[in-house]
Amino acid sequence: MRKNIVAGNWKMNKNLQEGIALAKELNEALIADKPNCDVVICTPFIHLASVTPIVDSAIIGVGAENCADKVSGAYTGEVSAEMVASTGAQYVILGHSERRSYYGETVEILEEKVKLALANNLTPIFCIGEVLEERQAEKQNEVVAAQLASVFTLSAEDFGKIVLAYEPVWAIGTGLTATPEQAQDIHAYIRSLIAEKYGQEVADNCSILYGGSCKPSNAKELFAKPDVDGGLIGGAALKVSDFKGIIDAFK
Ligand code: PGA
Repeated sequence: MRKNIVAGNWKMNKNLQEGIALAKELNEALIADKPNCDVVICTPFIHLASVTPIVDSAIIGVGAENCADKVSGAYTGEVSAEMVASTGAQYVILGHSERRSYYGETVEILEEKVKLALANNLTPIFCIGEVLEERQAEKQNEVVAAQLASVFTLSAEDFGKIVLAYEPVWAIGTGLTATPEQAQDIHAYIRSLIAEKYGQEVADNCSILYGGSCKPSNAKELFAKPDVDGGLIGGAALKVSDFKGIIDAFK
């Protein structure tokens, strides 16, 4: 059965001390009031080793926001999937639109990253989504289908280990959220592509998260849609009251 997941993406926010304080506060809040879904926080690399031991792993999973497309070696400044896993982290966001657009991550590079993440037992949270001009030209389905090429070379077994996040780029950090109907339509389309490729059972078991200006006030309506299995949360993951408000949409 597919899981409902609320995952936070801290992006390049919070220094180490602030990150530890945020993780502790969230951990306490969720121990006091247990979530009805899986909860994940994806933090900057340098936070991982400090954050994993302070959260209750039965309640909060920890992930990175990226990893290298190479195993190891002379790649100054890069952090490998193996290094991420060695901190105790269990997840890694891959293919975020900010990585694709600012750091030139292509379908091929992302395919390598996904494989390395899986080889190191990390769960990739693989992001796809169109930019505003593509949505206006009604090309969103084509765009996400092309982006899925990075993960459609996986075996059915490996595909079953990943989480997808549909994030329309025009909704990320803009305050413009996709309507629940827009999210449902494209999530259902994504699931139909998975069914075509891997069969209905794999498609039914795949968690597809929505991301883009998700907040406590709109999460319930979005998550109520049958093909929306939770959210990938940016800005609202930086404050425990907001993030918990979104987690509580599953109550
Ligand atoms: P946002 O970001 O919630 O701040 O729009 C979502 C994301 O980029 O994952």
